[in-house]
Amino acid sequence: MGCCWHMLLGLLLLTAASAFDRKPGCPETDMCGNVSIPYPFGIKEGCWREGFDLVCNVTHYRPPKPFWGAYEIMEITLEGQANVTAYVASDCYNKSGSTESYYSHMRLSEDGPFTFSNTLNKFTAIGCDTQAYITSSYGRNFTSGCMSFCGEKETVIDGLCTGIGCCQTSIPQGAWGFNIEVNSSNNHIGLLDFNPCSFAFLIAADQFKFNINDLSNGSQYERYLGKGKEVPLMLDWAIWNETCKQAENSTSYACKGSSTCYNISTNGLGYRCNCSKGYEGNPYLEGGCKDIDECKRGPSPCRATEKCENKEGSFSCKHRIQLIVVILGTVSSLLFVFIVGSWLYWGLKKRKLLQLKEKFFRQNGGLLLQQQITSHGVGATTKIFSAEELERATNNYHETRIIGQGGYGTVYKGILPNHTIVAIKKSKIADETQIEQFINEVFILSQIIHRNVVKLLGCCLETQVPLLVYEFISNGTLSDHIHDEAHSSSLSLQNRLRIASETAEALSYLHFAASIPIFHRDVKSANILLDENLTAKVADFGASRLVPLDQTQITTLVQGTLGYLDPEYFHTGQLTEKSDVYSFGVVLVELLTGEKPICMNRSQEERSLSMYFVTSLKEHRLFEVLENRIMDEGGVDQLVAVAELAKRCLKVKGEERPSMKEVAMELEGLRRVVEHPWVQTNLEETQSLLGESSEGYNGKGRVIGQDSLTNHTMSALEIGR
Ligand SMILES: *[C@@H]1O[C@H](CO)[C@@H](O)[C@H](O)[C@H]1NC(C)=O
Ligand SMILES: *[C@@H]1O[C@H](CO)[C@@H](O)[C@H](O)[C@H]1NC(C)=O
Ligand SMILES: *[C@@H]1O[C@H](CO)[C@@H](O)[C@H](O)[C@H]1NC(C)=O
Ligand SMILES: *[C@@H]1O[C@H](CO)[C@@H](O)[C@H](O)[C@H]1NC(C)=O
Ligand SMILES: *[C@@H]1O[C@H](CO)[C@@H](O)[C@H](O)[C@H]1NC(C)=O
Ligand SMILES: *[C@@H]1O[C@H](CO)[C@@H](O)[C@H](O)[C@H]1NC(C)=O
Ligand SMILES: *[C@@H]1O[C@H](CO)[C@@H](O)[C@H](O)[C@H]1NC(C)=O
Ligand SMILES: *[C@@H]1O[C@H](CO)[C@@H](O)[C@H](O)[C@H]1NC(C)=O
Ligand SMILES: *[C@@H]1O[C@H](CO)[C@@H](O)[C@H](O)[C@H]1NC(C)=O
Ligand SMILES: *[C@@H]1O[C@H](CO)[C@@H](O)[C@H](O)[C@H]1NC(C)=O
Ligand SMILES: *[C@@H]1O[C@H](CO)[C@@H](O)[C@H](O)[C@H]1NC(C)=O
Repeated sequence: MGCCWHMLLGLLLLTAASAFDRKPGCPETDMCGNVSIPYPFGIKEGCWREGFDLVCNVTHYRPPKPFWGAYEIMEITLEGQANVTAYVASDCYNKSGSTESYYSHMRLSEDGPFTFSNTLNKFTAIGCDTQAYITSSYGRNFTSGCMSFCGEKETVIDGLCTGIGCCQTSIPQGAWGFNIEVNSSNNHIGLLDFNPCSFAFLIAADQFKFNINDLSNGSQYERYLGKGKEVPLMLDWAIWNETCKQAENSTSYACKGSSTCYNISTNGLGYRCNCSKGYEGNPYLEGGCKDIDECKRGPSPCRATEKCENKEGSFSCKHRIQLIVVILGTVSSLLFVFIVGSWLYWGLKKRKLLQLKEKFFRQNGGLLLQQQITSHGVGATTKIFSAEELERATNNYHETRIIGQGGYGTVYKGILPNHTIVAIKKSKIADETQIEQFINEVFILSQIIHRNVVKLLGCCLETQVPLLVYEFISNGTLSDHIHDEAHSSSLSLQNRLRIASETAEALSYLHFAASIPIFHRDVKSANILLDENLTAKVADFGASRLVPLDQTQITTLVQGTLGYLDPEYFHTGQLTEKSDVYSFGVVLVELLTGEKPICMNRSQEERSLSMYFVTSLKEHRLFEVLENRIMDEGGVDQLVAVAELAKRCLKVKGEERPSMKEVAMELEGLRRVVEHPWVQTNLEETQSLLGESSEGYNGKGRVIGQDSLTNHTMSALEIGR
């Protein structure tokens, strides 16, 4: 039941509300002819608020005219006014007395919205013997009036309505009907020639201006006499008989949307609605009050330096400079953030790089090396290079700076700031477990100063794999000079022996004269560099220990330098100084024969140069295998001696090989003989020598003359077969 009650109540409320609501489809502002009819007024059923219905007379007027009762509405505004016309009251005389007299009467409707406007209208009388009265018993009971006198026309002041020819008075608020009468006290006697009539009327004050001619027969008002003609009059309209407060909560409350209510008077006669500030339109319609775009309407409400911004119901003025400041502020703060951000980013990156460098430095035994250097004092020559320094020296490891490349890594040519040219070796792999040993070697090797050893200047430990910096040797490797087409046979025997001798001396020095014995482990023609004077410089020793032992072998195999590898060492893994001797032997053979240590063109057993040479020697074919130029330049004895030395170096058992010191001394001796060839010998001797086993041969004293070499060689070769 309760629910049904509520529904019923809701329905009742709905119907009650609809009494004041417009039907859908009603125009916001209706038109009757040229006159616009704003809501709450209307001319169609359902489109007006109750009691605000006007009649649009379309049958008798073209264009049609709206009427409120008998009164034509000329204009009606939402501000609460309407224009109508009113009758004029008059009273005329001639010499015989009263001729014509009219009173004026108007009566609107009791419960309608209209009253005569007390603010916009004035009760006005014109005449020089005039008493005018306005009385009302409709809405507000009152009687008012004014009197106007003038003896002669000259006393009248044109334009002034102050009781001389014209008088005016106000009316009270709230009247909806009145009577106007006008009388004279002396029947206009003595005035008839210029003022026979008196007129009285209620008129829109701004439409009336007193004119002296109005007193005489030219009076505009005379034209209205007896014909019911009109003067303009203003009506007020309001939502009737309630105050804002009373209406506020009722369903009949007329103010809709963004509107405010205002009393039309202090005595509770009614109210009107006004759109709230910042809105305009019809406050009596739902959604009738619309936001005013103050910025687009006319001149900007803001100052020239300000930017106008419209808001719902209002607007704001933003200082353009402020705006610019705000924009600039935003932009600059963004910029600031960006700069700081990138600064931080680069800073962090740089820091990280530094940390990495430091990490590598420590990992690579940098501290150890530093310690060694400092403990060694002034004598220490090892230099620790920074990664940056070497990057700059090699033009950031540009490929045009590469001077050598292989399984071990890459060698770059670098130019230090002091214009020293260096070779920088960048290995491929590092073994952290042997760092201490590596550092020791670097330190020791960099202390070695020998004219036939490539000087290790220092190293850089800030990279993942340590970089080694050597003095730069300009003229390529011995291997190039022996095997390269370009350098082919460019080396004289004399030079070859000298190079061999220098190499042997360097190795001997390393084995015996250095502070601790150093084994090169990778003696080969490619590791013997030549400078511009073809002086031998042994390179790349010791550092190979950076790579673990087993890997060294693998690398060596892959490199194809197997031909140099001491077979004993290869089998036992036992590294001795004699391994270097063996490898040197191979280099010596290379110098003599110009053959590569491994040659696939030879038979299986003779593929390795050492085997081939030893076999050739055994079969007395020495002169078959020697290089042509060598045979041209050298004496048979001497060549045999060198060959014998090589053969001894190549002994399978390490202990049977001479020491590097012995080799160096022997070579030095042989070299001197080549430089001063003076001993003649004969074919028989040579023959016997070649036939002999190498044991016990001292390699000195038996040298053959250069001029007889060719013949001897031929014979020797024949003997060898
Ligand atoms: C009324 O409207 C018509 C055309 O609609 C126009 O010709 C006429 O002048 C208007 N009259 C007044 C008094 O505005
Ligand atoms: C229109 O006006 C004429 C003359 O004033 C009147 O006779 C007629 O009844 C009016 N028509 C309407 C529909 O009020
Ligand atoms: C209505 O009255 C106002 C105020 O007196 C006047 O300015 C306006 O011209 C009048 N409108 C008409 C249509 O008479
Ligand atoms: C005065 O007016 C009346 C009525 O209109 C007329 O009968 C009479 O003759 C007039 N008298 C004079 C002197 O004009
Ligand atoms: C005004 O006068 C009439 C009669 O003249 C009377 O009936 C009415 O009550 C009066 N109204 C007021 C508000 O005094
Ligand atoms: C006009 O005034 C005279 C006397 O001054 C008086 O006799 C007469 O009745 C008045 N007429 C009217 C209509 O009030
Ligand atoms: C009165 O009216 C007549 C005719 O309309 C005119 O000739 C005369 O000048 C008028 N008198 C005055 C004072 O305006
Ligand atoms: C307003 O008028 C209506 C009808 O004319 C009447 O029923 C209602 O009581 C009046 N309200 C007030 C507050 O006078
Ligand atoms: C109107 O309603 C509000 C609450 O919605 C209430 O506070 C106020 O007192 C009411 N006013 C009247 C006149 O009833
Ligand atoms: C309207 O008038 C009533 C009664 O005089 C008063 O209580 C109310 O505050 C007024 N409202 C406004 C908006 O002036
Ligand atoms: C109604 O609103 C208009 C525009 O906002 C304003 O000019 C006017 O003074 C307001 N009238 C009243 C009575 O508040």
